[in-house]
Amino acid sequence: MAELVNISDLRSAAKRRLPKIFFDYIDGAAFSETTANRNTDDFAKWELVQRVLRVAELPELRTTYLGSEKPLPFMLGPVGFLGLYRGNGEILTAQAAKSKRIPMCLSTFSISSIGRLQKEVGGDLHFQLYMDRDKSFVEKLLQSAIDANIDELYLTVDTSITSVREKDVRNGFRAVKRLNAPLMFSMMQRPAWCLDMFRSGAPSVEAVEQYPEFGKGALEQASNLSGRLDSSLTWDDVEWLRMNWKGRLIIKGILSPEDAVIAQEKGADAIVVSNHGGRQLDYASSTISVLPAIRDAVGPEFDVLIDSGFRRGSDIAIALALGASGILLGRAYAFGLAAGGQAGVEKVIDILSNELQITLKLMGVASVNELQTLGLDCLANR
Ligand SMILES: Cc1cc2nc3c(=O)[nH]c(=O)nc-3n(C[C@H](O)[C@H](O)[C@H](O)COP(=O)(O)O)c2cc1C
Repeated sequence: MAELVNISDLRSAAKRRLPKIFFDYIDGAAFSETTANRNTDDFAKWELVQRVLRVAELPELRTTYLGSEKPLPFMLGPVGFLGLYRGNGEILTAQAAKSKRIPMCLSTFSISSIGRLQKEVGGDLHFQLYMDRDKSFVEKLLQSAIDANIDELYLTVDTSITSVREKDVRNGFRAVKRLNAPLMFSMMQRPAWCLDMFRSGAPSVEAVEQYPEFGKGALEQASNLSGRLDSSLTWDDVEWLRMNWKGRLIIKGILSPEDAVIAQEKGADAIVVSNHGGRQLDYASSTISVLPAIRDAVGPEFDVLIDSGFRRGSDIAIALALGASGILLGRAYAFGLAAGGQAGVEKVIDILSNELQITLKLMGVASVNELQTLGLDCLANR
């Protein structure tokens, strides 16, 4: 994969390897995709201050968030159905995360279960919860996370209704429950992907395999799972979850300072500032533009993670300077996985680490911790 220099190259490689229906599902966003574009564009509203001759060593990228020191300020966030982009995709991603010693958060919507990941791979595994309408099913999911010794639970709160991603509508992705002629045709265009999926066996959502009401096969199970999301989710459910989850509770999908404070008051240990990669509320703000106000509202000690639009080490540097405790990657590593399996995800981590280290060095900043302390002093606003 020597010719793959940046995340955009990995995106192109993923596009060449994936059936269009899956590439579009990863790449696409809500309605006009304005928020998705804002996410990536708004980093350019900031300038990094160049300081010279201050630091002799290579910058230290280690930092502490969610209660422990991590080698890098970024981790792999929850992305659904990794096992459809690459055979055993969740396992390969967990192996990459483990080899780089960074956390991986497994989505509720996954082919491999959290129990299998813990047993077969291990590492710093976290779990993301979508609240199902049926609380007894949620309790089972929580129990499987407890059984897998998971400490960090992310409750995603920005999906009270699934938005429209027009590429998925055009491709028939939402409606598809089993293999049909257009889907078969789309898959046949990508023989390497077909061969890989054939070798790894017909995918099925392991966590719901024993429940007949979810149907059979990944496509039908996926469709049923997303149809069962609890659209009546409120802060009362967060209170319920807080009572039922003894580990760290992280609320994912916060975009306003007011909601950040409520999450804090309801007993969350951390938040993820997120607009779901622009896949939900179109015309919402970019996450980087709301980060400073959210950091101000919750105070300096609270863990504020962020995602949406991170494609460069410089993006990560800007977020850290604006008050982020850590960054979650989404599409960036999903593209890496589709393009090159475990090595592809590792490549993404290496590219971003290298870009971040070069950025800090040229800013004359000795470490991620110093960058976070300097804050706005090392940024200028365009
Ligand atoms: C294909 C895809 C699937 C996703 N699935 C989930 C999911 O299952 N649970 C969740 O909380 N967020 C999910 N997200 C949102 C990501 O966790 C994250 O918020 C988003 O990807 C960040 O934006 P970025 O991809 O531009 O970095 C998904 C995103 C993508 C692109």
